[in-house]
Amino acid sequence: MPDRIGADQETVSRVAELRAQIERANRAYHEKDNPEISDAEYDRLKRELAEIEARFPELDTPDSPTHKVGAPPAEKFETRRHSLPMLSLDNAFSREEIRAFDVRVRKGLETGGPVRYTAEPKMDGLAMELIFENGELEHALTRGDGETGEVVTRNILAARGIPKKLSAKDGSAPPALLEVRGEIYMRRSAFTRMNEERLAEGLPVFANPRNAAAGAVRQLDSAITAGRPLALMCYGLGRCKGASFSTHHEILSAFQSWGLPTNPDTLAGASLEEVISFYEKMLEKRHQLDFEMDGVVVKVDSVEAQQALGQTGKSPRWAIAWKFPAAQETTTVEDIQVYVGRTGTLTPVAVLAPVRVSGVTVTHATLHNADEVARKDVRVGDRVLVQRAGDVIPEVVKVMDPEREGRPAPFSMPASCPVCGAEAVRVPGEAATRCANKKCPAKLREAIKHFASKGAMDMDGVGDKLIDKLAEGGLVRNFADLFDLTEPVLARVERMGEKSAANIVSAIQGAKKVSVNRFLFALGIRHVGEHVAKLLSRRFGSLEKIMDAEVEELEKVDGIGHIVAESVRGYFEDQEKRNEVLALLEKGVSPAAEELPAASGAFSGKTFVLTGTLSTLTRDDAKGRIEALGGKTSESVSKKSDYVVAGEKAGSKLTKAQALKVPVLSEEEFLAMLEKEEK
Ligand code: IVH
Repeated sequence: MPDRIGADQETVSRVAELRAQIERANRAYHEKDNPEISDAEYDRLKRELAEIEARFPELDTPDSPTHKVGAPPAEKFETRRHSLPMLSLDNAFSREEIRAFDVRVRKGLETGGPVRYTAEPKMDGLAMELIFENGELEHALTRGDGETGEVVTRNILAARGIPKKLSAKDGSAPPALLEVRGEIYMRRSAFTRMNEERLAEGLPVFANPRNAAAGAVRQLDSAITAGRPLALMCYGLGRCKGASFSTHHEILSAFQSWGLPTNPDTLAGASLEEVISFYEKMLEKRHQLDFEMDGVVVKVDSVEAQQALGQTGKSPRWAIAWKFPAAQETTTVEDIQVYVGRTGTLTPVAVLAPVRVSGVTVTHATLHNADEVARKDVRVGDRVLVQRAGDVIPEVVKVMDPEREGRPAPFSMPASCPVCGAEAVRVPGEAATRCANKKCPAKLREAIKHFASKGAMDMDGVGDKLIDKLAEGGLVRNFADLFDLTEPVLARVERMGEKSAANIVSAIQGAKKVSVNRFLFALGIRHVGEHVAKLLSRRFGSLEKIMDAEVEELEKVDGIGHIVAESVRGYFEDQEKRNEVLALLEKGVSPAAEELPAASGAFSGKTFVLTGTLSTLTRDDAKGRIEALGGKTSESVSKKSDYVVAGEKAGSKLTKAQALKVPVLSEEEFLAMLEKEEK
C-alpha cells in the first residue's frame, strides 16, 4: 500500500545516499571490473531504494538506478546498439517471492491453470550478445547499458573456448541471422590454475572468476584475451531470421544443435513445484560445480506467453532471478597470522570474526602473499569483504573502510619462519617468501598432508589432524613412513576403534595402486598441480621417464613452460627427493599410466582426422587427448571418419571431408569439445 503521507526529510536524504552508493558500486563493477561491495550488499541497497520509491512515488525519478541496466559503455570501445534491448532481471530471495511471481504471471496471462517454466543456473559472468550471420560470428557486444553495448568482437574472435561458427548437425544451413545472448565466464578450475600461475610469476591475482572473465573480455589488446581461459553459456535469443520457436527450451535445444553451449543443468518445461526443488538441488550442488552461479533464473517457457506478459521498464515480466544467499559477506579482521605451507611458503592468513557465508561459518581467509596484503592493505581491525568460491579457501577481497582512523601500521612479513625460526627469504622475481630450512617440520607435515589428500594419494581417513598427531609423535617423518602404520599404532595415537584403524590401514595400502599423474601431483613438486601432472603423464607415460627427462624434453610438452620444466628436473635431480620416491616404490607404491577409458570414454568409437596446423596445441597432444577420451585418430579421411579437425592451411583432407560430408571442426570447436568432455 503506497503511503499517502509525503516523504520526510530523512527519507529524502536516505534516497540520495542510496543512489550515490549504488551509482558508485555500478561504476566499480561495470567500468572497472572491480567491485567495491558484495553482491548481497548491492542487492540490499537496491531493494531498500526500490521499496522507498514504491512507497513514495514522488521520489521515484526516471534517472534512478532502479530503472537502469548495467553501465554506459566505456569510452575505450566502439559501441553498437542492440537491435533488441538486453534486459535485466528482477530478483526474488525466497520461496514466497517465487510463488508471488507465479501468481503475477498467471494473473497476467489470465489463466487460472498452471504455467510451465524453464529454469537455468544464473551464471556469474559477463552478459554478451553474439551476432551470427549465415553461421559466422560477426559481432560480439557487451550488455553495456542494455541499449548500447561495447564492441568486443576482436577479443571474442581471439578467445579460446567460444564458438565462432555455427555447426548444423543435420546438414541444414544455419539461420541467416542469429543473435545469441549468453554469459561469458571462467571455469573455477581454470581460474584457480590461472591464479596459481600468476602467483608463481609474481603477478596480482584476480579476485574471482567473474572479474577475471570480465577483465579478459574488456581488453584493448586481444592477445591478452586469447591467453585467458574463457567459456560461454547461452541462455537467450535476440533477433533470429530463418528459425522460429514456440518455447524457451526449444531455443536452448536449437542452440545446442548449432554447437552453442547451454547449461546441462537446465530444468525444461516444468511446474512451479519442480522449479522449487530444482532451486534447492542447485543450492546444494553449487559449490561442486565448475562455474560460479548466484541463483536460478526462472522463465515462462511459452514464447507466446512471454510476449503476452511483456516487460516493465527494464525487466521482463516473464522471468525472474531467484538469488542464492550471498557467497560474499563483510566481517572484521581480528589478527593476521602466518602459516608455513608444504613448499615452505609463508602464507599470511586473516583471522576473522566468524561470519556465515553461503551456509558455512568462515573464520579464516587467505591473503596469499606479501604483495597481496600490501596491494589490498589489509590490517588488523579492518572491516573486510570475504568470499567463498567452491572448495577454495575463503579469501579477503578488499578492505571496506580503508580511511578508518587509528589503523595499525601496514602488515609486514616476518623475517624468520614462525615454525622453526630459520631465515625466511623472498626469492627475487617471485611473490613468495619461503622458509630456508629444508627440514622445517611445518614443511614436512604439510607435504605429508598434501600427499595423503584427495586428488593426490587419496588415503581416505588420513586427514590433517591425524597427520599432525602422527608427526608430533615422530611416527611419520616422511611419505614412506605412512605405509608402515599399523592398526595398534593408529589405535593408540588417535584412540580410535579397531574397525576405524583397520579401515585407515587398508586405505593407505590401497593407495599403493595409483596413477602416474596423481602420484606426481602428490609429491608436491613446485608448479606441478593436477593439470601439469596430467600433461606430463600423458606425454611420458611412465614415472621413470619423467624422472629422467631433461629440461628440453619437458619443455616440449604443450602447456609446460621453462619454469615448470626446471622445477620438475630440479626435484628429480635432488638426491634426497629421488631417494624418497625410490623408498615409496620399494614400499610397493606402483604408479601406473592412467587407464584409457577405452570403451566408456566420451569419444569411444569415434575417429578423428587432424589436418592443418593447430595453433594452441601440438598434434601429439591433440592425439593424446582424443585417446584419453577413448577416441581414435586416423591419417586419412573416409566415410567412416566422425570428425575432421581443420587447423590453419588445411588442404586436401578438408576438401575431402567436405565432399564426404564429414563434420569439420575448427580448432576452437575441437578444443571446446575436449574441454567439455575432460571435465
Ligand atoms: S536471462 C530477459 N538467463 O543475469 C532475460 N540471464 O540480471 C535476461 N544471467 O544480464 C537474461 N545467467 O548477465 C538470463 N540463465 C540466465 C542467466 C542470466 C546469468 C545474467 C545476465 C543478465 C543478468 C540479468
